[in-house]
Amino acid sequence: MSDRVLRAYQKLGAHYASGVDAKPIYRYYERPAMLSLVGSVEGKRFLEPGPASGFYTETFTNRGADVIAFDIVPDLVAHVKRRVGDRATVLVADLHDPFGVRLLEDRWTADRVEVHFYRRPLQAMIAPLLQGGFVLTDLVEPRPTNPEEYREQAPEEYRRLQTQPWFLCIKAMKPS
Ligand SMILES: C[S@@+](CC[C@H](N)C(=O)[O-])C[C@H]1O[C@@H](n2cnc3c(N)ncnc32)[C@H](O)[C@@H]1O
Repeated sequence: MSDRVLRAYQKLGAHYASGVDAKPIYRYYERPAMLSLVGSVEGKRFLEPGPASGFYTETFTNRGADVIAFDIVPDLVAHVKRRVGDRATVLVADLHDPFGVRLLEDRWTADRVEVHFYRRPLQAMIAPLLQGGFVLTDLVEPRPTNPEEYREQAPEEYRRLQTQPWFLCIKAMKPS
């Protein structure tokens, strides 16, 4: 499995390194929802699997967190390193196959790159956190921010998001 993941994300490397953070799906949808769950990060330690473009690596580093990020694709690791320099630790590493839930295939970007990912029941996403001693404190299915701009820039995507949530943002904390 990791070979297929590696090949797909290698092809997407240039896409992630080309300013993907400005796309409506991230800028007006996923990033605001995710960041709304994260309070002050100053002085905290983050382990970030799969940073891709490095948006969170850079954002949390700029906000004073100590970040360790790892990705299976060396080119993406190099890209994230260029973004954050030596202010965060960015490594090549493989998370391995998660759980063995349902494997899906999709095609992304204008190049139709074949991408594989997993669809899990909600229980399979939440249970490992609870078993690891985390307490679930919030859960968000994002709604687009800046709806007028979003609709103008990506009308079909905007329409789809009205009925099909694309991200699920989970906030879980370990009681100190
Ligand atoms: C959809 S992108 C994540 C986007 C990023 N977290 C963000 O919010 O911008 C998935 C990332 O996970 C990485 N990845 C996929 N499978 C992996 C594995 N088994 N081990 C490590 N990284 C992996 C990919 O190379 C890619 O960078």
